[in-house]
Amino acid sequence: MQYTSNSLEEHWMPFTQNAEFKENPRLVVKSEGCYMWDHKGGKLLDGSSSLFNVACGHGRTEISTAVYEQLKINDYTPHFQMGHPGSFELAKMITRLLPEEMNHVFFANSGSEAIDTALKIVMAYNNARGDNGRMRMVSRERAYHGVNIGGVSLSGMVKNRDVFPLTMPYVATIRHTWLEENKFVKGEGEHGGVELANDLERIVQTYGANTIAACFVEPIAGSTGCLVPPKGYLKRLREICDQYGILLVFDEVITGFGRLGHAFAADAFDVTPDIMTMAKAITNGAQPMGAIAVTDTVYDTIIDAGAGAMEFFHGYTYSAHPASCAAGIATLKIYEDEKLFENAAALSEYFLDKVWTLQDIDVVKDIRGYGLMAAIDVALPDLAPGVSGMTMQKKLFWEGLHLKFTGDSGIIAPPLVATREHVDELVEKLGKGLKEAATA
Ligand SMILES: Cc1ncc(COP(=O)(O)O)c(C=O)c1O
Repeated sequence: MQYTSNSLEEHWMPFTQNAEFKENPRLVVKSEGCYMWDHKGGKLLDGSSSLFNVACGHGRTEISTAVYEQLKINDYTPHFQMGHPGSFELAKMITRLLPEEMNHVFFANSGSEAIDTALKIVMAYNNARGDNGRMRMVSRERAYHGVNIGGVSLSGMVKNRDVFPLTMPYVATIRHTWLEENKFVKGEGEHGGVELANDLERIVQTYGANTIAACFVEPIAGSTGCLVPPKGYLKRLREICDQYGILLVFDEVITGFGRLGHAFAADAFDVTPDIMTMAKAITNGAQPMGAIAVTDTVYDTIIDAGAGAMEFFHGYTYSAHPASCAAGIATLKIYEDEKLFENAAALSEYFLDKVWTLQDIDVVKDIRGYGLMAAIDVALPDLAPGVSGMTMQKKLFWEGLHLKFTGDSGIIAPPLVATREHVDELVEKLGKGLKEAATA
């Protein structure tokens, strides 16, 4: 097949420079394990697990077979006032991985929908308690919570907001967790954890605790470059939320399902939120799915207030689609059978050490990382902020490495099935690309 600008024009691509792409397409036509192949025959190492979702590697026939078998038996069941067994099985499997108090899961189709659903759960919870004055949501600078209006309202990335000024009111923003003092530190930095979390108290002092419903955070901010919180940060946030009756929401769309060497960041940092969103690696990318887990307290409060009526007026036509559930069940079995969370934990030190070997390259401005995720900030000579990342991502594609950049941060997150050899190849290709770009 010939790929010309004419043949590509009809698809308006998301988060893409469409005009440039159609002049110079980068198409993937095959994928297997930790690799993908482009339409010119080049082989690419998947250095970001595609979009942090293909954690078991590509081409897992256990998943595609499960989806196919499910579609043959039962392609679709409405989920309103009826259901199919797969969603209950998957919910049970997910709750086994969650902190003890979290035993209920609601299904959506993406991370963005999961966040909007979480916002509504917060409101439904306060409504059920007759605490409707708590309208204010708190989120963080440099947060990314997806692209729906709810998620954009909570996000702290200017490019996702400045063209879309009509967002939710009543959102207060606390500080992000990047600090100069913690530059180039592996894992959690020593400085500023408690102080940064105390910024939530500033919001409490400004608006009054009884106006604040929930605090949304990614335990590690992913899309703004793996901002690992300093030591004590999440524990202190939990304390403040408890003190003032504020719900704590962890957006684990990236950090969930083994990325940090634990099932969830809640585990890694030993902090249990009231509500957790997840998506991405839940189906290994093979089917769209998002999910929201809640504690028994949140669930029971909303269900008990229902008094026999429909308790939560919310859902999607494709909530818990049978094919997505089948993909989720097959994926979670792979995680367990192949001990992939343990593999991520075991590989982490080697991975981080290797990534840190890039720190002396001139164009590298900071490196952060935890588990099997790291970010490298780059500033190429003579390029405006934001352009270096895009330039590097395209360059690396043709040099055999897929690395997702957001802004000028390259997010390194190999599949959890990766070996030391994959890590070596990844860092070698990235290092070579960075050195060339530095002198270009
Ligand atoms: C933390 C976080 N929340 C939400 C989302 C949105 O997920 P989706 O793209 O599936 O809507 C993302 C996507 O990267 C994310 O990283």
